[in-house]
Amino acid sequence: MKLLLIGPPGGGKGTQAKFLVSDFNIPQISTGDMLRENVQNSTDLGTQAKEFMQSGNLVPDSIILEMMKNRLLGQDCLNGYILDGFPRTITQAEGLDILLSKMNHKLNFVIVIDVKDEIIIKRLSNRRSCNNCNRVYNLIFDPPLDKEKCNDCGNNLFLRDDDNPKTIQKRLDVFHSQTKPLIDYYQKQGIVKTIDASDTIEEIKADIKRKLAS
Ligand code: AP5
Repeated sequence: MKLLLIGPPGGGKGTQAKFLVSDFNIPQISTGDMLRENVQNSTDLGTQAKEFMQSGNLVPDSIILEMMKNRLLGQDCLNGYILDGFPRTITQAEGLDILLSKMNHKLNFVIVIDVKDEIIIKRLSNRRSCNNCNRVYNLIFDPPLDKEKCNDCGNNLFLRDDDNPKTIQKRLDVFHSQTKPLIDYYQKQGIVKTIDASDTIEEIKADIKRKLAS
C-alpha cells in the first residue's frame, strides 16, 4: 500500500500515520521528522533547512527531492509507505511522479485531512513531542500520564520551536497557498479520499479505515 497524507500543519497527519503503520506494516516517511533529525544532528542538510523551518517557510524543493530520492530507495519501502508531509508543492509532486515511475510504483490513495484553521491553532499550541521516540501528545486531547514525560520511554516532552502563534500562522498561510493546490492535482488522478478531521482521533482513524476499504 502506498499512501500519501495531505493536510494543514497540526491537522493530525502524524497521529493518523502511526495507526496506518501498524495496520499495513509499512513505514511512515515524514519529511518534517527527517529534517528535524538533521537539524538536531547539525548535518549540512539540517543547517540549510533550519532557518526555513523556524520561520514556517518550506525548505527548497531541490533539497527535499534529493532527500526523498534516497529515502524511497530504502529496503523498507519495497512493500509500500505512508508519505507524511511530502510532497508539499506542485514541483515536489511532479518530482515524486518521476521517482515513482522509475521505481515502477504508483500511489494507491491520497488521504486529505480537512480541518479548519481555528481548530489547528488549539491543537498545535497544546502539542508535546518526545525528544527520544518522537511520540506526539496533546495536553488537552491526548494527554501523557505525566505532562512532562513520555509514557513509552520516559524521556522529556518538548514544545516544537515552530509551534508558536506567529509561525503557526505562517505555516497555515504556506499550506493554503502552496500545498492545497495538490488536492486538485491528485483529484485528477481519481485517488483522493477526503476526511473530516474535526472529529476525535478515534473517529478519524475509523473514517480513514472505512474510506480506504470502500
Ligand atoms: P512537519 O513536521 O511536516 O509539520 P506540519 O506539516 O506543519 O505538520 P505537523 O507535524 O505540525 O502536524 P501533523 O499534521 O502531523 O499533526 P499531529 O498529528 O502532530 O514540517 C515542519 C516543517 O518542515 C515545515 O514547516 C517545513 O519548513 C519543513 N518541511 C517538512 N516537509 C517539507 C516538504 N515536503 N517541503 C518543504 N518543507 C518541508 O497533531 C497535532 C496535534 O494535534 C497533536 O498534539 C495531536 O495529539 C493533536 N491531534 C491530532 N489529531 C487530533 C484530533 N482529531 N483531535 C484533537 N487533537 C488531535
